[in-house]
Amino acid sequence: MKFPKDFVWGAATSSYQVEGAPCAEGGGQSVWDMMGRHAGKIVGGDTGRVACDHFHRYREDVDLMSDIGLQAYRFSISWPRVLPAGVGNINQQGLDFYSKLVDALLEKNITPWLTLFHWDFPYQLYCRGGWLNRDSADWFADYTALIVDRLSDRVSHWSTLNEPQVYIGQGHQQGTHAPGLEMGFAEVLRAAHHSLLAHGKAVQAIRAGAKKDPFISASNTGNFFMPDTDLEADIEAARSRNFAILEKNVFNNTWFSDPMVLGQYPEDGVELFANDMPDISAGDLETICQPLDYFGTNIYWGSYVRANDETGFEIVEKEGLAYTDMGWPVTPEVMYWAPKFYNERYHLPLVVTENGMANSDYVHDGVVDDEARIEFHRRYLAEYGRAIEDGVPCIGYALWSLMDNFEWAEGYSKRFGIIHVDYETQQRTLKNSAYWYSHVIAANEIPSGRPRMLAKAIA
Ligand code: FCB
Repeated sequence: MKFPKDFVWGAATSSYQVEGAPCAEGGGQSVWDMMGRHAGKIVGGDTGRVACDHFHRYREDVDLMSDIGLQAYRFSISWPRVLPAGVGNINQQGLDFYSKLVDALLEKNITPWLTLFHWDFPYQLYCRGGWLNRDSADWFADYTALIVDRLSDRVSHWSTLNEPQVYIGQGHQQGTHAPGLEMGFAEVLRAAHHSLLAHGKAVQAIRAGAKKDPFISASNTGNFFMPDTDLEADIEAARSRNFAILEKNVFNNTWFSDPMVLGQYPEDGVELFANDMPDISAGDLETICQPLDYFGTNIYWGSYVRANDETGFEIVEKEGLAYTDMGWPVTPEVMYWAPKFYNERYHLPLVVTENGMANSDYVHDGVVDDEARIEFHRRYLAEYGRAIEDGVPCIGYALWSLMDNFEWAEGYSKRFGIIHVDYETQQRTLKNSAYWYSHVIAANEIPSGRPRMLAKAIA
């Protein structure tokens, strides 16, 4: 199937995961620098100090993006690189880096998709209470206004927050991600509420200051469910499970998205979380619920569900699924059902802002034969295409990731890239999946036949 004429093919990274040199040329520390100092928090004691050295090698990387034929590059800004204390003094050299990156992308006809926050929260603001402090929403809005002032003459695609479900849930409740906190649930919900306010105020700041017509969303993720069969009862079971909150955590599909898009917290969550609800001031929900131009979502895997007369649904433990290097199951149908269910609820055009897999890739005779990744994307994109054929307005796709990088608590042990990075030498090698993806982009469809046969060098 051909994808729609204006469909956008991209790839994604984030600042802390690829840039390295976090505190170079006047940049400040983030909570991920702090995390790197805590023994045992990151596999192998790895840190983002060098990462892919993208801060110095961005031109070479943009050239590779261009070789692949990327139409969009989703990257994030390191807040403390441009505002070392999170607020106040501006680090001009930090801003210059992003300005040069945007120029390099535009020179190659690659549209910059800018994410304002992908988890590297300024350390200095963490010391002032971080997301627990209600002022965090204004800190974020001021930072956003600065970026809009400097880059919106050339950038029109904006994402406010990347996966609040994760940096709040894993960062503030489970403690596995920065800032590594294991707080009570009331504090978790308080931090979540301030993040939501930050999103709303950032959208306002973008609309107020943008020099180019902006296209705005956040990048949410969640716990996805798909029907195990085509039976209407199973589809209904998956739909309702998808939007239900059954546990006291924020890794679900509505706690953040409903306030952002519908202007209210989901009722079942409010009931389940009753004893821990945050203070909600008059006007907060109006601030949070700003008009969005699309719904951004990161999709990796989901669970299969069947209807059950007694409990409404049951999770089906499938035999024989393939698993990626993260231990995540390969469940391509999630790329059909998650966009479809989200669209039914939120009625917004949809962009998958991340999708990909970790694989134990290695270079052999100059080649990285990651056939498993090609097969993964071939199957996931086929399902995404099926959603489009069924009328879901899916308008873009950002593959995670452009290159192998610092995978948070997993350090460098997981490789998600379509470009292999040798961390000793910083040598980049296009994996076969990159060649395959360049075919997809050029043809605007998924090539048929054995993917491996299609992986040949870009002319
Ligand atoms: C997502 C993150 C991204 C990357 C992928 C594998 O949750 O947004 O930075 O780590 O997972």
